[in-house]
Amino acid sequence: MKAAITATGRYFPDREVSNAYFYEDLGLDTSEDWIVSRTGIQTRRLADVSKGETCSFMATRAAEACLRDAGLEAGDLDAIVVATVTPDQPLPSVACFTQAALGAQGFAFDLVAACSGFVYGLDVCAAMVESGRAKRVMFIGADHMSSILDFNDRNTCILFGDAAGAVLIEQVPDDHPGTIHPSILRADGKGAKHLQIPAGGGRLPIDAGVLAERMNKVKQEGRVVFRHAVSSIVKVVQQYFAEQELTVDDIDLFIPHQANRRIIEAAADKLRVPREKTVITIDRFANTTAASIPTALDLAREEGRVMKGDRLLFATFGAGFTWGAQTVTWGL
Ligand SMILES: CC(C)(COP(=O)(O)OP(=O)(O)OC[C@H]1O[C@@H](n2cnc3c(N)ncnc32)[C@H](O)[C@@H]1OP(=O)(O)O)[C@@H](O)C(=O)NCCC(=O)NCCS
Repeated sequence: MKAAITATGRYFPDREVSNAYFYEDLGLDTSEDWIVSRTGIQTRRLADVSKGETCSFMATRAAEACLRDAGLEAGDLDAIVVATVTPDQPLPSVACFTQAALGAQGFAFDLVAACSGFVYGLDVCAAMVESGRAKRVMFIGADHMSSILDFNDRNTCILFGDAAGAVLIEQVPDDHPGTIHPSILRADGKGAKHLQIPAGGGRLPIDAGVLAERMNKVKQEGRVVFRHAVSSIVKVVQQYFAEQELTVDDIDLFIPHQANRRIIEAAADKLRVPREKTVITIDRFANTTAASIPTALDLAREEGRVMKGDRLLFATFGAGFTWGAQTVTWGL
């Protein structure tokens, strides 16, 4: 039995926040030129919690769009899996809230792999479908990054946006044109200290001191993360090509995680992927963590950049450290 992506959907909050928000409204010591030249980000969408825009809200809207694309109902799903690091609350999962909001049945759980959540989750969901444990899985990458950002920290708060992207993963016959191919997933837990939220778990529960130091928000050493991201993505894709007996010419579209335009371009250049085959959305939406690849995929489809039979390459790097590469053959 094989698995394929048979539909996609996305959700971005309406609230658009330009770079000027950070230096004009928040008074941070940053500038349009710094943000655009160092990251490629021009604008991003941020959720409005006062209007109920939480992670599960965005996940539900993306899943509804995906179901419309598939021509299916929520009741047709066997499972809902959400890759996220920004749940509505610590317990229960975003997937359970999403299941209730959709009116779906079946099992539901979250998966935590930060910016690698989509590539990790795609592999987990494909394996469930290939093994026959589920026939139809709604897999959503959703992150409400503005809920875990320190808006006084110019090193992190300018980098992220909020969004959700969904794909339907279905069992398809062997002669179906679409396929989710094997992946390579990697992790190195020694990288944890370079990109983390130090407090809010068992090690350092929330108290007044934690809140004062904003230890419940994202902390990162950007330069270290940058260096590891480029070299890890390049190495894992080269290894993937060798294992799957592919060359860069076999790839029709490269959809990398959108962390920094310079990371994407450096990796694409080293891998010799031409710019016209590289999907870049970071300028409009910033880094949306687990949502960045599925939203970029959905946007690329809408823009007519994904054709039946195309081989798409996904590659990612994120907190953990976690990273990986995967390809799919497009069947729609
Ligand atoms: C964060 C990042 C954009 C910084 O770019 P960089 O070219 O590496 O910049 P540096 O870290 O060398 O910092 C250069 C200077 O700019 C400063 N700086 C950081 N953020 C700034 C901002 N928003 N505006 C102005 N200056 C800023 C730094 O404090 C530093 O100042 P210093 O030299 O006085 O210490 C970049 O490292 C990055 O994108 N890293 C990966 C982050 C990421 O993707 N994380 C998500 C997980 S995938």
